Amino acid sequence: MSILEKDKSFVWHPFTQYQTSGDPLVIVKGEDHYLIDEEGKKYIDANSSWWTNVHGHSNKYLAEKVYEQFLTLDHSIFAGATHPRAVEISERLIHLLKRDFQKVFFSDNGSTSTEVALKMAFQYWYNKGDSKRKRMLAIEGAYHGDTFGAMSVGQRGYFNKPFEHLFFDVDFIPFPTEDNEEEVIQKVKELFSTGEFAGFIFEPLVQGSSGMRMYSAEILEKLVRIAKDHQVITIADEVMTGFGRTGKMFAIDHIQTSPDIICLSKGITGGSLPIGITVASQEMFEAFLDEDTTKALLHGHSYTGNALCCAAVSGSLDLFERKATWEVVDLISKMNAEFVKEIKDHPKVRTARVQGTIMAFEVETGGASNYFSNIKQMASEFFLDNGIHLRPLGNVIFLNPPYTINKEDLDYVYSKMREFLNEKM
Ligand SMILES: Cc1ncc(COP(=O)(O)O)c(C=O)c1O
Repeated sequence: MSILEKDKSFVWHPFTQYQTSGDPLVIVKGEDHYLIDEEGKKYIDANSSWWTNVHGHSNKYLAEKVYEQFLTLDHSIFAGATHPRAVEISERLIHLLKRDFQKVFFSDNGSTSTEVALKMAFQYWYNKGDSKRKRMLAIEGAYHGDTFGAMSVGQRGYFNKPFEHLFFDVDFIPFPTEDNEEEVIQKVKELFSTGEFAGFIFEPLVQGSSGMRMYSAEILEKLVRIAKDHQVITIADEVMTGFGRTGKMFAIDHIQTSPDIICLSKGITGGSLPIGITVASQEMFEAFLDEDTTKALLHGHSYTGNALCCAAVSGSLDLFERKATWEVVDLISKMNAEFVKEIKDHPKVRTARVQGTIMAFEVETGGASNYFSNIKQMASEFFLDNGIHLRPLGNVIFLNPPYTINKEDLDYVYSKMREFLNEKM
């Protein structure tokens, strides 16, 4: 039996309707910013494998770091025990994040990092004896993960309909734009004035899954400031935007006011191993100190603080200390901006946008933008045929490549995007 046949017999893939979907691509190797299939065909990994592989694939430096860690300590319980790698990366992250961040909590992926953040925010007020602050604010179109808390603060729709009756109530504000800024600000002030909000969770600057939708640092600054003025805990979900994606290390580096909690995952290990990290301020942490054990954050996972994952974080942070990494971040950001300028008035482009290494454009469909648009399938096939692995979000085609890509391959991707718009649409 071939790998594909065995896959069909034994594997259940994510986000896949088996009745209608085609065969998965069998990838047998990853090298720099390429994925390589069974026949040896190379594909540029234009979306960094679900936005994770910022340092490319099978990075030797990361591999050696993880291997050395494996020979020393692979894993140990993290309740009542610690290890040097977890301590090292916590200290490094705190120095990188600066501002009010002080305590690092470990979990396993992006969803758990936001789940933990929500629990921290709700329990903060519980521990303080404030029974009024039980509401949570999020932004329309949000995606914070697939666990129940994370789904509750996400956009309600096709993806989570079967579970909707199990979600906790969340207030959503409209996605902020230049046109509705005043309306959004008024609504936020009104809501926060009730004194009923425990927290406000947001994807800073770029909403990933809803179609790489972007909003300005100025409005983000205002929203975080208003939340602070009303003692509402601010949760920056940087699972997607962290680690150079917006052109700076973190999207919140584009604003002055410090959120209380930040969620990290994806690029933090360069896509090599899974980890979720939730970092809180000292003030948040202190609300959990008590003689009473039940006031502690009674949350954890078997793999919390896994030493191999921590070694991967350490390696990834080392790579971010290299000038060469930031040179590619700058190159992608510059070329993305130029491409957006070129295509924004193309008749087949509804809107085009860029924030650092993330570039996205909406293909004109005649109807509303939609995740289930048939352009998704068409575009995936076109780019795959041309040696580019792209996974559009409906009619939104986007590029957020690994920081190992070069000018030549970027030019090639843009040329195929041009061809797609000119000849296929
Ligand atoms: C902003 C944001 N938060 C949370 C998540 C969930 O992360 P994970 O898929 O690792 O659970 C994602 C995933 O795309 C994300 O983009």
